[in-house]
Amino acid sequence: MGAEVKIDALLENMTLAEKLGQLTMTAAGHAVTGPVIAGDSVEALRTGTVGNVLNLIGADHVHSWQRLAVEESRLHIPVLFALDILHGYRTLFPIPLAEAGLFDPAIWAATARATAAEAAADGIALTFAPMLDIARDPRWGRAAEGPGEDPWVGRCVAESKVWGFQGESLARADTLAATAKHFVGYAAVTAGREYAALELSERTLREVHLPPFAAAVEAGVAAVMPAFTDLAGLPLTAHRRLLRETLRERLGFDGVLVSDYNAVGELIEHGIAADETEAAALALRAGIDIDMMAGAYRRGLPIALQRGLVTMAEIDESVRRVLRLKERLGLFDDPFRRGSQKEPVAARTEWRHLAREVAARAIVMLTNTRDTLPLDPPPKRLAVLGPLADVSAEMRGPWWAAAPPEGHVTVVEGLRAALPAAEVRHAPGVSIEDADTSGIAQALALCDGADAVVLCLGEGAVMCGEAASRAHLDLPGAQRAFAEAVLDRAHERGARVIAVLFSGRPLVVPWLIARADAVLAAWFLGSEAGNALADVMTGRISPSGRTAMTWPRAMGQIPIFHAERPSGRPFASDNRYTTRYLDEPNEPLFPFGHGLTYGKFTLSGLRVAPSVARESDTLEAQVEVTNEGKRRAKETVFLFIRDKVASVTRPLLELKAFGSVTLAPGERTTLTLAVPVRELRFLGIDLEPTFESGEIEVLVGPEAARKCLLTATVRLADGSPR
Ligand code: BGC
Repeated sequence: MGAEVKIDALLENMTLAEKLGQLTMTAAGHAVTGPVIAGDSVEALRTGTVGNVLNLIGADHVHSWQRLAVEESRLHIPVLFALDILHGYRTLFPIPLAEAGLFDPAIWAATARATAAEAAADGIALTFAPMLDIARDPRWGRAAEGPGEDPWVGRCVAESKVWGFQGESLARADTLAATAKHFVGYAAVTAGREYAALELSERTLREVHLPPFAAAVEAGVAAVMPAFTDLAGLPLTAHRRLLRETLRERLGFDGVLVSDYNAVGELIEHGIAADETEAAALALRAGIDIDMMAGAYRRGLPIALQRGLVTMAEIDESVRRVLRLKERLGLFDDPFRRGSQKEPVAARTEWRHLAREVAARAIVMLTNTRDTLPLDPPPKRLAVLGPLADVSAEMRGPWWAAAPPEGHVTVVEGLRAALPAAEVRHAPGVSIEDADTSGIAQALALCDGADAVVLCLGEGAVMCGEAASRAHLDLPGAQRAFAEAVLDRAHERGARVIAVLFSGRPLVVPWLIARADAVLAAWFLGSEAGNALADVMTGRISPSGRTAMTWPRAMGQIPIFHAERPSGRPFASDNRYTTRYLDEPNEPLFPFGHGLTYGKFTLSGLRVAPSVARESDTLEAQVEVTNEGKRRAKETVFLFIRDKVASVTRPLLELKAFGSVTLAPGERTTLTLAVPVRELRFLGIDLEPTFESGEIEVLVGPEAARKCLLTATVRLADGSPR
């Protein structure tokens, strides 16, 4: 029987309660580890009144729940099991913001592929990832989960991740359906405060926040999750125009829209629904297919039907989409396919190798004065200090999926393994967040006689991710006092200090950057964190990560990002009446794309062809890259454009391509970056895409700072006049 015929037949047969079951997702809650099948859930699965479950971990558990649905429910419809799997399932890769900094689509896809295989082997069929919110405000903790500040990067990540999770066919036992979230603009919450309402111009919405979702839809993403938030007066969960017109009609999304956790119920608190019935009707009419955790569809839609707020056709349309997804996932065919594979032992070793490689490559070397790194010759005595130096659970970062707290390599463990002949001594000094300074003296004593001090500082894993907005982005607790004391003591004794910063966002720590001899942004690197950091510190691997978000020098600069639009009064140091602060420079501490390597790269001879280009052409920028340093290293190169005169103002820098080369000492090569000219279209005065004739500046270099970029000019020939 063809899929649609089967779905028609089911729909024909389903009671209203069974239909609403397919539109309902509930959490397994404590059943994940406790006595498996508890009260209500059994009944709901047997009666077909819950069709989708989140947060159930373990193939045995998943299969026993599935059995209840397919063997005991009237229509035998399989359950969809879902989980947030943002950067690995049991094997954890670096958090998404860190992984974005690899600027390597093949790796972005590879980690999603491995993650899908590992999670599907446990019976999971749907992940709530990738998170595609473009984040320009590091106060917002969820910046950790996404691709950073740039929409072009967001597009590339979206494409790679959807492909990585979903593979060629969702019916395979090792794939997951992906969910692009959170549609759309969530990262712009007011003042970076979680769940707050937001304002966005239609232009910024379309130019910055929508493109990654468009790319995910184009790549065939199976599901989309609207954001919790209110966008200019309408919560996304009820945003009919954006969900139905923009997402479904304009972008062509025909998959499942799943609400965020309890978001349908929260329409009451938002103040646009008087009760659950109205909330359910608003969400369904806006196009939300699955109500996650509110129970509003189950309880409210029957009443909404009676009141004429929704129609059965609207309900059927959503049920059909959910059943289609289950069909595409092969669940009707074999609901036990995922989770029936043998223990993937060999694969697990491979995933750990991949995790180590990706983690090493995600580390961003922010500074390295006097070639402090790598540690060469290898130190004999090393003091590894700080509250993040030896805690496995913290290495996971936020959203650790099914990864237990233990088993993730710490910095102390990694350095001990990499330097077996060295004496590696450790003391935490202080804890991550509290004010107790009683452990400082003991830690300071370890600086005496050490060849170098590795100081592991930062946020705890739960201080970023969801519900983790921060108004201060300095080190929490007593860490600053501790770090200053260590810096004083180590420098007095002639030992260099390498600061390793753990965080889910750029921190605002100019004092540390100024004083430490080298600073590594470790973000949260996952299961192989300590080995990866040791690989970089010992010089086995050159650091090559770049920051996918701008690092501010002061809180007052936030939001800060490279793609700002021009001012009519550009900064001039001798003119007060230009765009500036009285008390801080405009420049960030580290621009987007910043990250040092153990090589010493120079870029020269930028050529862009054709010099007169048409919309159907592809621009090719070629640049000579030379490694004048003493070590083999990888250099990432960015291509930005600046449309100097257009009918609307255009950003000062717009990222359009990136690429990288690995070069031995003394080696030189030509790197080519290609940009299809149609990518230079932009939204005109009427917000419709336009292609205008005129001059475009092409800027190529290692980071988003004009002074580091080579420039060339091309002329667009066949566009419309301004
Ligand atoms: C988060 C989502 C997540 C969902 C399910 C929500 O609180 O906002 O990103 O997918 O929970 O765990």
